[in-house]
Amino acid sequence: MKQKIVSGMRPTGKLHLGHYLGVIDNWVQLQNDYDCYYFVADWHALTTKYDKTSELKQDILNVVMDWLACGIDPNKSTIYVQSLIPEIAELHLYLSMVTPQNWVERDPTLKDMAKILKTKEGTNTQISYGLMGYPVLMTADILMFNADLVPVGIDQVAHVELTRDIARRFNNVYNTDFFKEPQPKLNNCSLICGLDGNKMGKSYHNDIKISDTAEDTSKKIMSAITDRTRLRKDDLGHPDECEVAFKYWKIFGNDAETGTVRSECEQGLRGCAQCKRELGAKINERLVNIREKRNYYENHIDEVKDILKTGSQKAKEDAHVILDKVRSIVQMY
Ligand code: TRP
Ligand code: SF4
Repeated sequence: MKQKIVSGMRPTGKLHLGHYLGVIDNWVQLQNDYDCYYFVADWHALTTKYDKTSELKQDILNVVMDWLACGIDPNKSTIYVQSLIPEIAELHLYLSMVTPQNWVERDPTLKDMAKILKTKEGTNTQISYGLMGYPVLMTADILMFNADLVPVGIDQVAHVELTRDIARRFNNVYNTDFFKEPQPKLNNCSLICGLDGNKMGKSYHNDIKISDTAEDTSKKIMSAITDRTRLRKDDLGHPDECEVAFKYWKIFGNDAETGTVRSECEQGLRGCAQCKRELGAKINERLVNIREKRNYYENHIDEVKDILKTGSQKAKEDAHVILDKVRSIVQMY
């Protein structure tokens, strides 16, 4: 039997190339070797944005369309929406009983979140009970399918450690070996920076979306930072100080292409405008099939909804089996 993988993403709306290269492409590769469960973590979105839910449904669809376009395959993986599996909420409740309060209080990401919330306006400016418990909710996401491996970024490794601690604690308390202790599996982070050289992020307005048109992408690339010391096109360039454009070449070009760009740049034979025009074309070439597929799903949104419905139904059946066992282990009525 294949090992099980569970991973989730918050419904932040349309995803960008950082998500594609850092997370989704990983997920796509894993589909062949593992039994994968990929879900949209909409309850996790509520932990910080319970007061802003008007776009939640559309954001979920956008995330899933990006996944499908990038190659997450509903025939290989189980794709579902977290809140359509209420079994997760019930499991969260049992797990919350055995989790000592100070285990969640020492969560490092909670402190960062508290800072961000404090700067907001309105009523949602402090850590709620639900947000406090979010690492336990994440534990329930993972243990709900008794996963072996959890692909995550480095920032989430602490949460998988907590998951292992809670699994062990549950097993001890109820004198069982029912829950596996899942391992984190680090995403190979081909970290792509934003157009301005900072971390790529939606809120920094420095991202290229998977769903951007080829035209928009080319335009955005023209605004990417290059070698700041270079004023005229025959000035000798320094690719290693070209803060964004050359880094993108290294991600999207092959060795020969990157080599040519480097030597022409260093000899002053290549202007930055021309260089970025070619780079834009190169990136668009890589994305052409993905965008075509995404367009298809945008025009067939009922298919996307069906995929989520079918996937959630299957996830629910699997979850039900586990929850039944948990209820019996805890000796519920
Ligand atoms: N907490 C993760 C994040 O913010 C998302 C997430 C929720 C997740 N549940 C999960 C990831 C379970 C892996 C497994 O990115
Ligand atoms: Fe960067 Fe290309 Fe300009 Fe060289 S020519 S500095 S690699 S954009």
